[in-house]
Amino acid sequence: MSSVLLTRRIPASAFSRLQEHCTVDLHDGPGPLPPDELKRRLAGKQALISVVTDKVTPDVLDAGPELKVVSNIAVGYDNIDVAAAKARGIIVTNTPDVLTEAVAEFTWGLIFSASRRITEGDRLVRGGRWKGWALDFMLGTEMGGKQLGIIGRGRIGEAVAAKAPAFGMRAVFAARAGRKPKADERSLDELLVSSDVVTIHVPMTPANRHLIDRKAFARMKRTAILVNTARGPVVDEEGLAWALKERLISAAALDVYEREPEVVPALFELENVVLAPHLGSATRETRTAMADLAVRNAIAVLEGGPPITPL
Ligand code: DGY
Repeated sequence: MSSVLLTRRIPASAFSRLQEHCTVDLHDGPGPLPPDELKRRLAGKQALISVVTDKVTPDVLDAGPELKVVSNIAVGYDNIDVAAAKARGIIVTNTPDVLTEAVAEFTWGLIFSASRRITEGDRLVRGGRWKGWALDFMLGTEMGGKQLGIIGRGRIGEAVAAKAPAFGMRAVFAARAGRKPKADERSLDELLVSSDVVTIHVPMTPANRHLIDRKAFARMKRTAILVNTARGPVVDEEGLAWALKERLISAAALDVYEREPEVVPALFELENVVLAPHLGSATRETRTAMADLAVRNAIAVLEGGPPITPL
């Protein structure tokens, strides 16, 4: 029987399926496996089922000379050195599709939390600072008739766009560099200049690091809202705190951060930013489906078949 290192407890159905096919070494601790322990426990394993907090670097891969597959329970895979894995003949898989709707719904939740100041209002009520209804109290912005600028035209970006008409918004996408733009696509600069909400749905690649930086904030509308449910380093977080403080943009909502779980402290002092703890795909249904797909990917490779969703 093959051996698998599973770095997080997963729902019972997926766990039982895995146990039927493999010997499972489960890390059930409160935090991620420390890198040295990850390496130590990879010895003699044919599969690693990882999560986004596991950094699968070349030296980690070298600690598992028998590894055939790294199955990530996430659609993003910037935690894995995919090129290094491929160079060692290790297959890497992710969990696309099953989380698309959950992340799109969450993105809309953040758009409205920021535009209608929901979390700010919640803090105010809890803090005992609410003095009662007033005509001009805590006014937000309506989304109807506004432009939603989407950076990243993958599954999630498209799913976010699909819901825009329900709220009366017009969605435009950032055109991919070097490609002829479609009718609903704009250059990144044009999108930044003209959008009322800018939402990010690109993968974390070296080219996307600080794609939204101080210069980008300076190009945005003073009334604009920035939403990031993709990966933290796509946005310059210090630059965002500066832009919010200086009112270069009106609000932001983040689900991801440059150095999770750390958050740039300047953001805590601002009322016009919603801070969520990386919850985009965190529904019971979706996390179960993600674990299930990751398990099926690992088993498929261990049994000599093709993976279901390889990179
Ligand atoms: C993903 O799937 O990449 C998410 O960020 C994990 O929750």
